Amino acid sequence: MNMNEIERALRELRLCGIAETLSTRVMQAQAAQQPFLETFAAMLQDELDRRRSGLTERRFKRSGLDDRPSLADFDWRFNPKLPRSACFELHTLKFIGEGANALIIGKPGTGKSHAAKAVAYQATLQGYDVRYGEADTEFARYGLASTQEQAEQLKAWVEPDLLVLDDLFLARRIADISAEATTILDRLMHRCAMLQFEGKSYRLKEAASRIAVTPV
Ligand SMILES: Nc1ncnc2c1ncn2[C@@H]1O[C@H](COP(=O)(O)OP(=O)(O)OP(=O)(O)O)[C@@H](O)[C@H]1O
Ligand SMILES: [Mg+2]
Repeated sequence: MNMNEIERALRELRLCGIAETLSTRVMQAQAAQQPFLETFAAMLQDELDRRRSGLTERRFKRSGLDDRPSLADFDWRFNPKLPRSACFELHTLKFIGEGANALIIGKPGTGKSHAAKAVAYQATLQGYDVRYGEADTEFARYGLASTQEQAEQLKAWVEPDLLVLDDLFLARRIADISAEATTILDRLMHRCAMLQFEGKSYRLKEAASRIAVTPV
């Protein structure tokens, strides 16, 4: 087989990670007079790396998250009373394995969604199946769905390792599904970490700084 044929065979075998770096690895092996096993190990690693990042990307897409927030870019000095250690504790994701829940409540713009999304994103990176949704949208879709679709939606809430329902207590449609809402809250309060976010709105601070730089 020549190079083209080898590459084609690799793609046919769905070893695209090896196919992509093959010519580089061949050059590297020749340049360094590398033992065969060393080259082979590097090629296997390329395949593993590609599969892992592909899987992570697919998990992120499926999660419904719209961005990739992190606790690293969170300014803990802005609202010093936030439950910082409890946030990092959630970020270890131990609660998922323990089948526990977390409820984040508090003032607007203090970073509740940011913290919840950061934990959810971390969970996608660690291989968990995650669903993020805004409670209002989720409940509205549920309220309008047929019985069959409702069963599917319930499955989509229950099946993932981590379900994040944002703005739960703002949900207008919660009244439409009163019985289910009670069940959801009842389950939620069982083995539940409570995180309270008190402080100033970061949104207002950002808006204020925009006004400050707008020329008159
Ligand atoms: N301490 C902080 N450091 C950095 N960014 C922050 C901080 N607090 C909030 N933000 C940013 O401010 C914006 C608003 O925060 P977020 O949406 O998380 O607030 P919230 O508590 O969920 O508000 P709401 O109750 O209205 O849903 C987001 O863009 C978030 O990234
Ligand atoms: Mg929010």
